[in-house]
Amino acid sequence: MKFRSIKGTKDVLPAESERWQAVENGIRTVMHVFNYREIRTPVFEETALFARGIGELSDIVTKEMYSFEDRGGTSVTLKPEMTASVIRAYVQHNLGELQPLTKLYYIAPMFRQERPQAGRLREFHQFGAEAIGGSQPAIDAELIALSVEVFRKLGVENFELRLNSVGCEKCRPAFKERLKTFLKKTLPGLSEESQRRLEQNPLRILDSKDPRDLEATKNAPLTIDHLCGECQTHFDALRMTLDVIGVSYLVDGRVVRGLDYYTRTAFEIISKELGSQDALAGGGRYDLLVEELGGEQTPAVGFAAGIERLLMVLEKQEKPAGLGIHPRVFIAAADDQSRHRALQQASELRRNGIPCELDLLDRSLKAQMREADRQHAEYAVVVGEREVRENTFVVKNMKNGEETRIPISAITTFFLNRT
Ligand code: HAM
Repeated sequence: MKFRSIKGTKDVLPAESERWQAVENGIRTVMHVFNYREIRTPVFEETALFARGIGELSDIVTKEMYSFEDRGGTSVTLKPEMTASVIRAYVQHNLGELQPLTKLYYIAPMFRQERPQAGRLREFHQFGAEAIGGSQPAIDAELIALSVEVFRKLGVENFELRLNSVGCEKCRPAFKERLKTFLKKTLPGLSEESQRRLEQNPLRILDSKDPRDLEATKNAPLTIDHLCGECQTHFDALRMTLDVIGVSYLVDGRVVRGLDYYTRTAFEIISKELGSQDALAGGGRYDLLVEELGGEQTPAVGFAAGIERLLMVLEKQEKPAGLGIHPRVFIAAADDQSRHRALQQASELRRNGIPCELDLLDRSLKAQMREADRQHAEYAVVVGEREVRENTFVVKNMKNGEETRIPISAITTFFLNRT
C-alpha cells in the first residue's frame, strides 16, 4: 500500500526547506528590528473561539474549518488563522499587564478546507504580527511598514499596498443600510452568492471578483466615503504617517476583508505575479475583538501573510531565496584503517560548530572525493595512515584545488579562522 499526502497539503523537501529557512530568518530579523516578540500557540483550539472571533457568517467559519469532536466530546478546530488564538492567549495570560502595548509575531501552519488551486492550500503557513493595546494611527502605520519591510527585505518586487477604512460600530450600521438599499436595486444583477449575502454580510459583496458583482456594484457606496468624524480623523492621520515614513499605498474602498472582526483600518498587499489568488498579505484594526473574547476593552491591529505565496512570487522573479546549505568540510578516509580517525576528526569539528560531513558508506577515496564535490563542500580533509604517522592532514580547497599540509592540532583553528 502506497500513501500520498492529502490534497491541498505539501511536503517541503530538503532542496526547498533551505528556501523556507532563508525566508523565516528574514522574517525573524525584520520582526526583531521592529521589536516584535514571538508567540506560539497550539495548533488546535476550541471551535467556539473561532466562531466567535472570526464571525459565524464568515466563509472560514461556515465552510472551511477543520473541526472535529475529540474523544472527550469537545469540538476542536485546527487553527484557520492566528489572530483569535493570539488574543485568546493575550487574555488568558494577562499579557496586557506586563506592558501597555504588546507587540507579537508568529510563523505557523494554518488549516482551511478550501478548493485547492495555485496559491491556495488546505495546510498553508502564515507569518504575521499583532500590536495589542493602542488605537493610535502610528501603531497601524508601524505595523504596515513592518509588513512591507519583510517583503522588501526578502526581495519581493512590484507589490502593491491597498488601504481602506471599514469604519466602526458607530458609522458602519448606517453604512450597511445604505449599501443594502443600493444593492437591493441591483439584486437581479448580482451573483447567487452575493444575493445570499445581501442581508447578513453585504460588505463582502464589495470585494467579490465575480464579473456580475463587479458590474452591479460599479457605483456602490463605499465605507471610506461614509466614515464618522473619528474614523475619518484616524484614517487621515494614518495616511499622513505612512507618507512621513515613506510607505506608498493606494486607497482602495473595496478592501473589506473576509473576517468579521475588522474596524477602521483594513489593508491588503497584492502581487500581480500571483494570478487570481493575488493577496500576499492582509490585515487591519480590530478594536472590539479582545473584549469579544472576554478581555478588557483593548484596541489592536495586525496582519498575516502567506509564506507559500511569498515563495511563489520569489520563484517567478527567479530570485529563489536559499541558504545554499552544504558542508564546509568533507573528511575523507584514505583507507579502512583511517575511518575511525576520520570520525574522530569530524566529531571535533562538529563540536566546534563547523558543518562537516564524512563517508559512512565505506566508499573508496575516489568515490569520497566525488561525493565531497557533489555536496559542494568547501574543503576536503584527507585522513590516511601517513597523515596519522606524520601528524599532519592535507586540506584541499575544493574550489581552486589548492592543497595545504596542516598539523592535526591546528585543523579546527584553521576552519574557525575562516568563518
Ligand atoms: P487572511 O486574509 O485570511 O487574514 O490571510 C492572510 C494571508 O494568508 C493571505 O493574504 C494569504 O497570503 C494567506 N492565505 C490565506 N488563505 C490561504 C490558503 N488557503 N492557501 C495559501 N495561503 C493562504 C488572516 O488570516 C488574518 N488573521 C490577518 C490578520 C492578522 N488580521 C489582523 N491580524
